[in-house]
Amino acid sequence: MTPLLPFALTEDPRWLLAFDGFDPERERQLEAVCSLVNGYQGTRAALEEGHPVSRPATFVAGVFNTPARPQAPELEEPIPELVVAPAWSALRLVVEGAELRLDRCELLEMRRVLDMRQGALLRTWRLRDPAGRVTALTSLRFASLAERHALGQVLVVTPENYSGELLIEAMVDGRVRNENDTLHLAPVRDEPDPRAPLVVRTLQSGYTLALAARAQLMDDGGATVQGEPFAAAGLIGSRWRLRVEQGRSYGLHRLVALATSRDGADPEAMAEALADELMRRGMAGVLADHAAAWAERWATTDALIPGDDELQRQVRFACYHLIGAASPDDERSSIGARALTGERYRGHVFWDTEIFAWPPLLYTHPATARALLMYRYHTLAGARAKAAASGYRGAMYPWEAADTGEEVTPAFMLSGDERVPVLTGIEEHHIAADVAYAVLQYVRATGDAQFLHDYGAEIVLDVARFWASRVERGADGAFHIRGVIGPDEYHETVDDSAYTNQLAAHILRRARALADELRRDAPARWADLAARLSLDEAELARWEEVAAGLVTGYDPATDIIEQFAGYHQLKEVDLTGHDPGVVTADVKLGWYEVRKTKVIKQADVVMLLILLWEQFSPATRAANFAYYEPRTSHDSSLSYSFHALFAARLGQLEMAERY
Ligand code: BGC
Repeated sequence: MTPLLPFALTEDPRWLLAFDGFDPERERQLEAVCSLVNGYQGTRAALEEGHPVSRPATFVAGVFNTPARPQAPELEEPIPELVVAPAWSALRLVVEGAELRLDRCELLEMRRVLDMRQGALLRTWRLRDPAGRVTALTSLRFASLAERHALGQVLVVTPENYSGELLIEAMVDGRVRNENDTLHLAPVRDEPDPRAPLVVRTLQSGYTLALAARAQLMDDGGATVQGEPFAAAGLIGSRWRLRVEQGRSYGLHRLVALATSRDGADPEAMAEALADELMRRGMAGVLADHAAAWAERWATTDALIPGDDELQRQVRFACYHLIGAASPDDERSSIGARALTGERYRGHVFWDTEIFAWPPLLYTHPATARALLMYRYHTLAGARAKAAASGYRGAMYPWEAADTGEEVTPAFMLSGDERVPVLTGIEEHHIAADVAYAVLQYVRATGDAQFLHDYGAEIVLDVARFWASRVERGADGAFHIRGVIGPDEYHETVDDSAYTNQLAAHILRRARALADELRRDAPARWADLAARLSLDEAELARWEEVAAGLVTGYDPATDIIEQFAGYHQLKEVDLTGHDPGVVTADVKLGWYEVRKTKVIKQADVVMLLILLWEQFSPATRAANFAYYEPRTSHDSSLSYSFHALFAARLGQLEMAERY
């Protein structure tokens, strides 16, 4: 007989994130933190039965849509965002007319545990309904890492002090919306069909999403309870009415298959076929495959921190979300700034991917790292279009990207009566170098010559071409890059950002060397690339000249690299006691004031030193860290990891641990 709950939590607490009780203030954070992620989709850990404070959502990587109207008051134009997909684990539970919900019953106890080793969320809770009936419940949810289109759900119900009528409804609910009631989906079928998958389509981008569900309800004696399917516009479900006996348990096993038109021509047929196959495999089998897939990933990902259990758990938490952020099978999507856990940043892809989330994937799962670079390869057209539209050559990757590879940073933000231009999309050009840098890192780490020849080289060469067209020769005879934003976004429209210039020079040099290597090692490929990109010797020679002549910001007298031209003239601000968790510096000082100061939003020159570490002397590294670290407000959470790494490399372990 199949056990009602074919799952056991990992015993070692260093693999578990556990939350007791229910705090409405922190619920949305918990939902994000405990998201079930498998690189294909992410499902927030919202209560299955719903709650007024909940923000349930499932996101499917790469499924974006632009709404008909601006989706937020600060936006002038609508922009593409990651779509909230149908809720696949929605439940309704009713005992003798009383709904078993936290806002309708007394919560006696609740514990939610994310088992990071097995990629599953276990919830146990007990409710007393208004008539005094006490029900004990357990639920399990997971998004399979073995079969990324498969989602699983278990529910076990035990009436503790009563016998009576129980109604269970398990639904796939496509009547979902993004924040601010933004509509992205419409049902494809005119007439709801309870026996068919739920099929919806994104209104502007035209992606089809199909979800097929199979479910079985059993009692603890192994007897199956017959259910009936039902449907409404945009919703399918199964319903069971049964008489439950005090002290006995009833278990629902539900497997949901999810496919979209990004996966194949007929997502509905795919979902149907997979759902049947999952049912044949059974809950225990699907769970076993899933756990094995996680074990395989942990075997190359886990980092052991002996002696500090809390730190160990935190590191595993980071790894869990990195493993779940991307799929090796998908070359057409990349990791958004909040991955697949929430709507913040609308799912857009920034430099966060290549510079922050990507390196650990490179060293633990190169196939995933490769797929993410392929996303940049497939979106080269968008990068070329962006460069051309700004009067440059080559490829300039967008600051924010979605599914098409076009720039999706909003042009303006509305703030009261003000219309504030958003300059990041226009000026934050370092992302082009960041992408090319990752390509070079990948090739260096894996030696994957085939990737380099077929895809990587084209990215690097076209980015180099962009930088060579982006520079200006000054009256001083040197090359300059004017009017950019570096990683520190508190200073806009600056000249000669050291991070930007030095990375650009690095890419130009590496591109030149790469051309020579290709010519030597893969002459046919080189001939083809050079012809297609119309590259000649004169252009390659100029790359070398530009790289050599680009100002670096380095002052040999002080050993300090000036973050950008004029930074040293700005006002000093003492950041002692600054806590970005309370208020960020741009809010505290004001947006127009902060730019007149030396306050840096996040690691900038510090990032440059880490990325091109071998190019700097130990004295230069130490001097610049000592100079910039106290002037950094860490108002972006991206700042901490590189400060931790830098401090650790300098042997300042206490500081490293703090960061
Ligand atoms: C940071 C950027 C980052 C973006 C998305 C901004 O606040 O300054 O560096 O790319 O958030 O995470």
